Amino acid sequence: MRQPLQHYLQFTDLSVEDYAYLFNRAALIKAKFKAYDKHQPLTDRTLAMIFEKASTRTRISFEAGMYQMGGAVVHLTTGDSQLGRAEPIEDSAKVISRMVDLVMIRTYEQTKIERFAANSRVPVINGLTNEFHPCQILADIFTFIEHRGDVHQPLDCLKGKVVAWVGDGNNMANTWLQAADLLGFTVHVSTPSGYEVNQAVAGVRNANCFKVFKDPLQACQGADLVTTDVWTSMGFEAENETRRQAFAAWCVDESMMAAAHKDALFMHCLPAHRGEEVQAEVIDGPQSVVWDEAENRLHVQKALMELLLLGRQ
Ligand code: CP
Ligand code: NVA
Repeated sequence: MRQPLQHYLQFTDLSVEDYAYLFNRAALIKAKFKAYDKHQPLTDRTLAMIFEKASTRTRISFEAGMYQMGGAVVHLTTGDSQLGRAEPIEDSAKVISRMVDLVMIRTYEQTKIERFAANSRVPVINGLTNEFHPCQILADIFTFIEHRGDVHQPLDCLKGKVVAWVGDGNNMANTWLQAADLLGFTVHVSTPSGYEVNQAVAGVRNANCFKVFKDPLQACQGADLVTTDVWTSMGFEAENETRRQAFAAWCVDESMMAAAHKDALFMHCLPAHRGEEVQAEVIDGPQSVVWDEAENRLHVQKALMELLLLGRQ
């Protein structure tokens, strides 16, 4: 295991050098996967995955990724474990982390994953919380590098770039801000009023890493990447109707893509709602890289699990 014990609870848990290594390593792991060339450094290692919210991509990418690397997976949900029957998080962490080598958790408050990690003997990975979704941004940035950069100098293509965030000031937005702060690009954020990003929650030191725009079209001007997410994140379903009204103008459409750079990419972490946060013509159009983005969850997370368990190779 990497020493000292290393968790991945937020994007800022790894250094710039770690990211340069990880993106390069993910490219190698992806190339081997495409060539049916075995990459099994995690034989006999076990990953526990704990889901307190629904998932398609996170579950399959972690589960398939661990098997492909020679390891095994245990899948727990609130409904089928004592986690749903009020066993203290601290106790669960102590027990689970004596039996497996790595834990991935998707849950509600960030404090829950922090309490788990504080009591875990093994690395803990954030598979999404209300505040952050670092594995998704890892995949998004890797996808940008694949399309616009060079995996040998992976961070170079990010410098000075503009990412337009159109929509909710949610877990994805917070994580984009952390990534911009660390890796040296700028996020243009446009949210409806009442749904702004909160610099303190995002945990951003440098306020210059993001700029706020009232008008989503203006946020997209000159952007190298335009990205959005659902109007209502998991756990906020009771606000569905209010959000539907508040977010009506925050739909990424062709006029926003036209305002961005000619070669701007479009990303969405998925699942998407065509006609709400994004027009079908955009997500299914030529600038969209959402399928590469989804696939890359697999490759970057394999590199991440290898790094947390074995260190740099
Ligand atoms: N993007 C993402 O995390 O998808 P899932 O909710 O399907 O895991
Ligand atoms: N912001 C969304 C992302 C889903 C992958 C949510 O938290 O539900």
